[in-house]
Amino acid sequence: MTKINSAGILGTGYCLPEKRLTNFDLEKMVETSNDWILERTGISERRIAEKNQPTSYFAYRAAKMALENAKVKPEELDLIIVATITTDRIIPSTACTVQNMLGAKKAGAFDLTAACSGFVYGSVVASQFIETGAYDKVLVIGAETLSKFVNWKDRNTCVLFGDGAGAAVYGRVPEGCGMLGFDLGADGAGGDHLDIPGGGSLNPASHETVDEHLHTLHMDGKEVFRFSVKAMGETVLKSLQRANLTVDDINLLVPHQANIRILKSGSKRLALSMDKIYANLDKYGNTSAASIPIALAEAVEKGRIKKGDIIALSGFGAGLTWASCILKWTGEE
Ligand code: UT7
Repeated sequence: MTKINSAGILGTGYCLPEKRLTNFDLEKMVETSNDWILERTGISERRIAEKNQPTSYFAYRAAKMALENAKVKPEELDLIIVATITTDRIIPSTACTVQNMLGAKKAGAFDLTAACSGFVYGSVVASQFIETGAYDKVLVIGAETLSKFVNWKDRNTCVLFGDGAGAAVYGRVPEGCGMLGFDLGADGAGGDHLDIPGGGSLNPASHETVDEHLHTLHMDGKEVFRFSVKAMGETVLKSLQRANLTVDDINLLVPHQANIRILKSGSKRLALSMDKIYANLDKYGNTSAASIPIALAEAVEKGRIKKGDIIALSGFGAGLTWASCILKWTGEE
């Protein structure tokens, strides 16, 4: 591909529900314990949306913050991509809802389904439009309200997930900065390991699908864990190779926040110390497509990312999917 421009992040933002659900709260809901959850996952608490707060509520607020930080007006946006598995409605897309909330009149809008890899998939799509010169400004949002798709009686899943949104505005950056390499992957053979079986054309909604809990998340935790520990590092190595860089060049890796044991295993496999791996899952749990952009925006806010830093993003999850990219940070002006 002929690259006319370099594409990078101009600004980031995030939004989390105020309501906290702690491990101690969960002890009263299912047969579990704070010790088990902390030891097996690293999660202490997660944020939970109110009934009247759909995914777009958080997506819009994260987007507003990202646009302000990027000094970009909604009317300047060419495209809005919302990565989510918890869309407000089957149709229209959450991206269209957010486009209207923002007043981003000239922007195209679509949702992207790649589960926990969704924000990185979206970032790569955005960068392609900018690199070819087709578009100038693309908003990528990762947003979820997983609490609305969890079976609160199933301790295998309900302790893991949380709600929230993160966003990034992509635009032109100086040559040699921004997106330096990426890797997208999928293995559909593992689709049954993590799914929401009901409500689609395979199992249309009916009284039976509700009774059988087919509208909530089902996960074979062990299979997904096995896949995740491999995928997290392998995909980063591929992206590094495409960027002509090595693990030693990474200043900060922002991975999908699924489980602290996955992050620690990734750290070992990559030979990248844990202080170069951003983790906030103790506070927010697994927020699927939202976890990477929330962590990224938080890392920027905390001053963990400086101009010129090499940042790696790594996502892995349902599909099965994985995705990573390497960004040379240009800073939010
Ligand atoms: O976002 C996409 C990516 N998602 C992931 O990467 C998630 C990957 N999977 C995981 O993080 C882990 O597999 C889990 C945290 C989900 C589970 O941890 P585990 O160490 O694999 O536990 P397990 O499934 O092997 O279960 C061990 C035991 C079982 O009891 P028995 O059969 O040994 O008697 C479970 O029933 O722990 C039990 N258990 C629990 N106990 C207390 C499962 N969930 C709970 C719970 N509280 N919440």
